[in-house]
Amino acid sequence: MALYALGISTSPREGGNTDLLLREALAGAREAGARAEYLSLRGLAIAPCSECNACARTGLCRIEDDYQAVMARMLEADRLIFATPIFFMAVSAQAKLLIDRCQCLWSRKYVLKQPLLAEPRDRRGMVIAVGGSKSRKMFQCVRLTMKYWFDAIGCVYAASLFINGVDGRGEVVKHGAALAAARRLGRALASADLPPPKEPETVELPGGEPAAG
Ligand SMILES: Cc1cc2nc3c(=O)[nH]c(=O)nc-3n(C[C@H](O)[C@H](O)[C@H](O)COP(=O)(O)O)c2cc1C
Repeated sequence: MALYALGISTSPREGGNTDLLLREALAGAREAGARAEYLSLRGLAIAPCSECNACARTGLCRIEDDYQAVMARMLEADRLIFATPIFFMAVSAQAKLLIDRCQCLWSRKYVLKQPLLAEPRDRRGMVIAVGGSKSRKMFQCVRLTMKYWFDAIGCVYAASLFINGVDGRGEVVKHGAALAAARRLGRALASADLPPPKEPETVELPGGEPAAG
């Protein structure tokens, strides 16, 4: 059966740089034979984690909102591509809401020591982040967050694509190297015959001028 690759866009800007890079990565996953789906958090109601700690007893989040359906799709996925714009040196607020709600999965794994899935599967994740400035420091926070988040949700952190210097809506279409890298990494992520990497493959590209800092 084909692998299921789920791409999650956490940018508020429809058709923006995050979306375009994500769609390219999903096209790459399709080339590798995966069933690839795009999901945007725009318009979804995902409340912040309330830190009620109920999940430490049950492994479930008791807030009933759109997170529940998103989590089900995330757990179904064999490959997850998580895409975010850089907002103040970190992931978008929409991204962080989803990340924090996954505390219930962290609890299941580390507090209750329960498996996340009925049957263990080879699950892998990739992050795409894009920022408008030329600083490369802005990806430090994303890297660390993804390391711990992918672990909590039971995915091997397989790849990162970091693009700086791209600010205007959809401006990334002018940067063929960024789009090509997204497609290649998406294809590699969904190639079932490649072993999971020990360390995430990281591609950092300046969309505009050479990166500084
Ligand atoms: C609230 C906000 C905060 C931002 N913070 C940063 C930042 O810290 N560093 C940066 O390089 N770009 C920053 N940007 C620019 C965006 O990362 C950039 O425009 C990106 O291309 C947006 O992606 P999108 O088109 O998918 O929304 C910020 C933009 C907004 C709206």
